[in-house]
Amino acid sequence: MEDDIENILWTSEDISNRVSELAAQLTHDISAVKSTELPVFVGVATGCFVFLADLVRRVSLPVSIDLVRVSSYGTGTLSNGSPSISSDLKLDVTDKHVVLVEDIVDTGNTLCWLIKHLKSKGASSVSVCTFLDKPSRRKVNIELIGKGKFYRGFECPDHFVVGYGMDFAELYRNLPYVGVLKPRCYQGVKEELPKN
Ligand code: PRP
Ligand code: MN
Ligand code: MG
Repeated sequence: MEDDIENILWTSEDISNRVSELAAQLTHDISAVKSTELPVFVGVATGCFVFLADLVRRVSLPVSIDLVRVSSYGTGTLSNGSPSISSDLKLDVTDKHVVLVEDIVDTGNTLCWLIKHLKSKGASSVSVCTFLDKPSRRKVNIELIGKGKFYRGFECPDHFVVGYGMDFAELYRNLPYVGVLKPRCYQGVKEELPKN
């Protein structure tokens, strides 16, 4: 698996340090809001799973945790811009503050759609906490709800990255660092550059 990595962008130590900072910021911001309602952290499967687990264990407040799964891209690797939900929330988020947790924001389509979905379910505010952000690829503006804020771990250059939950063809998610995939690993894929 390591042979397929061109270079490492963030080591597990870099990641650990940054996740601790994000968790401290979230803990501070959530505590500052005088609300009796505890926040719900909603991870977007599958890519969120490592980040979500690391993040919530460092948030020193009682929080609820749920997962959603969004099918954005069918069987291909390109965005068609019209996601649909394939596994919905288990928890009721009516009047709750939701923190959406993602591994990476690319075009923004998945998040925009999910934010609208959470609004329709009655969330009072929606923040986003994404491990990586690739603003150079953004196609839509991400409009948060209520007093929601946007948190990101790192700005990601426009390379195909894997590890720390992110995959190519469902592999590499278990790498403990984030690296750039060697082009030979995705050459032969018919569509243009695959997305995470
Ligand atoms: C990736 C990533 C985000 C989304 C970002 O998930 O985890 O959820 O794409 O792309 P966008 O900003 O262009 O919408 P993917 O659909 O590959 O599923 P996965 O998490 O199971 O890998
Ligand atoms: Mn995802
Ligand atoms: Mg993926």
